[in-house]
Amino acid sequence: MPKIVTLPGDGIGPEVTAAAVEVLREVAPDVTIEEHAIGGGAYEDHADPFPQRTRDALKDADAALLGTVGGAHDSAWNKLPRHLRPESGLLALRRELGCYANLRPVRVLPGLEHLSPLKAEIARGVDILIVRELLGGIYFDQDRRINGDTAYNTMRYTTPEVERVAKVAFWAAEQRRGRVTSVDKANVLEVSELWRRDVQALRDRDYRSIHLNHEYVDSVAMLVVANPSRYDVILTENLFGDILSDLAAVIPGSLGVMPSASLGDGAGLFEPIHGSAPDIAGQGVANPAAAILSAGMLLRHGLKRPDAANHVDRAVAIALREHPTRDLGGKADTRTFTHAVLEALGTPAVG
Ligand code: NAD
Ligand code: IPM
Ligand code: MN
Repeated sequence: MPKIVTLPGDGIGPEVTAAAVEVLREVAPDVTIEEHAIGGGAYEDHADPFPQRTRDALKDADAALLGTVGGAHDSAWNKLPRHLRPESGLLALRRELGCYANLRPVRVLPGLEHLSPLKAEIARGVDILIVRELLGGIYFDQDRRINGDTAYNTMRYTTPEVERVAKVAFWAAEQRRGRVTSVDKANVLEVSELWRRDVQALRDRDYRSIHLNHEYVDSVAMLVVANPSRYDVILTENLFGDILSDLAAVIPGSLGVMPSASLGDGAGLFEPIHGSAPDIAGQGVANPAAAILSAGMLLRHGLKRPDAANHVDRAVAIALREHPTRDLGGKADTRTFTHAVLEALGTPAVG
């Protein structure tokens, strides 16, 4: 029997994770689900944002489903030494699981163009996969310090780090439209020069059927919203991928519909890309679609159950059409939306 560890975390994390768990229980009733602590709440209870008990529980898990971590800007958590902050718990979790490739799909499903603030003809049919490197770059390099009036971080990548995530992007493109856009800042940064060289060399050596091009991150930040249909797979490093994926959330209409899958050495980690949304936490109005779609990615990539994953995707699309949440200009609260998904799961697929 597969085992899933859920890590609801802080803010709206528990609200959206509860919705995703309801959906999982419906489509995969045989799966064991075990809840554990992470983030600011875990620090409060265990003096550690990624407690040993959570670490241990993950050892025999088939996949992990994360909610969100973190507090508001004025939260006391932000005054803790950095390694005790909620976000450090999440970074330690990603490292523990060896999840170096973060898949962030950006899709506008048929009939849902009206949820985008972009013109319908620009949003229609968008289907991008952002592959974000998740364990390297400026996030993790230990050459970092803040001291008086000087602070620094270091963006460093090695060829093996670039190649392993690029392989995931090429593999994904092979299942899709065969195009990869590698995004960097090679006109300024040495680290991007290496990234570009290694991605191109890997393509020329092992993935000759893939159409690869290279674009600068500043230009992509404009083009991805002005003309999103020009992209199939976007491959980029950790920090650029973080920023571009929140920006790309504008295309489907909200961060609340953006799921992700983090894959790598062992069990996968599945999480919405949004944060703990302190401005709406505790009100029961968060959009759980990103969390539910992340559970769908868990079924697809973690448990290899594509039929169940497709079933979830379809039910979320129906619920988004009929009961959009507030972030999408609708009225549905978390419960209403989740009920709509569960109801749609119960209706047979047409066509
Ligand atoms: P955020 O993503 O939490 O919120 C940005 C805006 O989007 C807010 O207005 C919020 O209400 C809205 N929003 C986000 N998710 C939503 C949803 N599901 N439904 C409806 N509206 C939604 O970003 P932030 O405010 O910059 O960060 C808040 C905290 O979250 C910080 O502590 C940050 O470090 C943390 N964070 C955690 C994760 C994670 O756990 N993976 C990701 C991003 C940010
Ligand atoms: C995300 C978040 C995290 C990141 C933070 C909370 C560490 O913004 O998952 O996108 O930057 O990776
Ligand atoms: Mn982010």
